Amino acid sequence: MAIRVCVFDAYGTLFDVAAAARVAAEEPGRGALAAVWEALSEDWRRKQLEYSWLRAVTGDFVPFWQVTKDGLDWAMERHGLSEDLELRERLLALYWELAAYREVPFMLAHLKARGMATAILSNGSKDMLDGAVDHSGLRTYLDAVLSVDKVGVFKPAKAVYDMVGVEFSCAPEEVLFVSSNGWDVAGASAYGFQTVWVNRAGAPMDRLMAEPAHVLPDLSTIPELV
Ligand code: LAC
Repeated sequence: MAIRVCVFDAYGTLFDVAAAARVAAEEPGRGALAAVWEALSEDWRRKQLEYSWLRAVTGDFVPFWQVTKDGLDWAMERHGLSEDLELRERLLALYWELAAYREVPFMLAHLKARGMATAILSNGSKDMLDGAVDHSGLRTYLDAVLSVDKVGVFKPAKAVYDMVGVEFSCAPEEVLFVSSNGWDVAGASAYGFQTVWVNRAGAPMDRLMAEPAHVLPDLSTIPELV
């Protein structure tokens, strides 16, 4: 079946999640962060995801913004930065302004020119997604920004992938789902979407439910797949 809809994960896929700590670390007076920003950023992301999955398992849903703050608090404590409340506020503010990867606007414009429907499907809260989409100027290339807020559970739960068919009245095989998160691509592949894993870091493939149809080093060649 031909692809009609291209759906993108947000954090780590369209938006560079390391940018918040990297940008803050370059600001004046941030010596303590500059020494640890990469490890802090990785811990923040890991805890954010772990908390989302654990809350999906137990049914104790909170918006992704809450697990983002909880993950940051854990990471700041681990790196001895808990006292720096101004830094905490700055890192959280930067999360609403994450830069899109360089190739994203052109790639999305190319898909639109080919008549594709395009969307974000993200664990992110609607308000934080809207912030990042508007800040990066991507709104004009997207037909929908779908947040798990509507279903109250996180990817890779099937209820989240169901949102695409509801929004676009399409079959799973008509969807090309793109994510840099191996666990997300595994869930989406098992669900029946055609899938692309964007493996920027050259990471090993996750041993999970299903493997992606395509593996790419970045997003630039996505339009060639549709
Ligand atoms: C997203 C995160 C989890 O769903 O990458 O956007």
